[in-house]
Amino acid sequence: MIGVVGSINMDMMISSKRIPKKGETVKGESIKYLDGGKGANQAVAIARLKANVAMFGKVGSDEHGKNLITNLKNNNVNVDNIAIENNINSGLAIITIGENDNTIVVVPGANNKVDKNYIDNIKSELIKCDLIVLQHEIPQETNEYVIKICKENNIKVVLNPAPASAVSKEIVESVDYITPNEHEMKLIFGDRSVEEIVNEYKGKVLVTLGSKGVAAYVEGKGAVIVPCRKDCKTVDTTGAGDTFNGAFCVALTKGYDMEKALKFANIAAGMSTEKVGAQSGMPELDMVESEMK
Ligand code: RIB
Repeated sequence: MIGVVGSINMDMMISSKRIPKKGETVKGESIKYLDGGKGANQAVAIARLKANVAMFGKVGSDEHGKNLITNLKNNNVNVDNIAIENNINSGLAIITIGENDNTIVVVPGANNKVDKNYIDNIKSELIKCDLIVLQHEIPQETNEYVIKICKENNIKVVLNPAPASAVSKEIVESVDYITPNEHEMKLIFGDRSVEEIVNEYKGKVLVTLGSKGVAAYVEGKGAVIVPCRKDCKTVDTTGAGDTFNGAFCVALTKGYDMEKALKFANIAAGMSTEKVGAQSGMPELDMVESEMK
């Protein structure tokens, strides 16, 4: 069982010809409310790839909260440990899509209440997992607490340090895999080259490079870039990073070597960009497997 400890958001997706500049107003073309949150997205990506996954996190006592749980349940994610926090809104992300890119403002709401106390309440279920994946949309001290519990219980941890914020040396050492993009990498490891970091942290640090693919250390080859899936008909990149992380976790549980795991995760991430919304385009296992061939 893979466990995701993280955020659950409602995404308010606004499509517009372009992303407004500071102080500017632009006309939107459409608005959609879609399920999101980096944690929930990663859980759905894992479930679509036919792995067992449990979501740990909180929603608010609003209408969005109920719908967000129902969506996870419908996607075969175990929701037994999701708590509903009273008198607070569920996490909300305002996403503007335009110019083949996006901007996101996240209001954490109930995600900020995923605290040590909550972790103590679900600990007996958490330690049943073989692998835990974390992001940066719940309080940092909660992530640190979860990592400590995982270490004590020999559970592997994947940390996706998004949105970008610094991570202590101790945390980098404690986790098994850390998956920053280039910007997040510089915040965590300083202004050094991707190759240098990847070679130093052999197999632990995977740097996602957007449309270029992902850089990682491969036994016998050193630092390599595993390219993205070619010919994607990209309409929205929201959730591509989450799909990559979820699929990478699935590949780990399948025992794939690093290169095969990254190929699998890249294919899934590429496919996810072909529909609007973080979760809409996330592929099923057979779609990824047939393209692996
Ligand atoms: O990674 C994409 C996600 O980031 C969106 O679903 C949004 O909720 C934000 O958390």
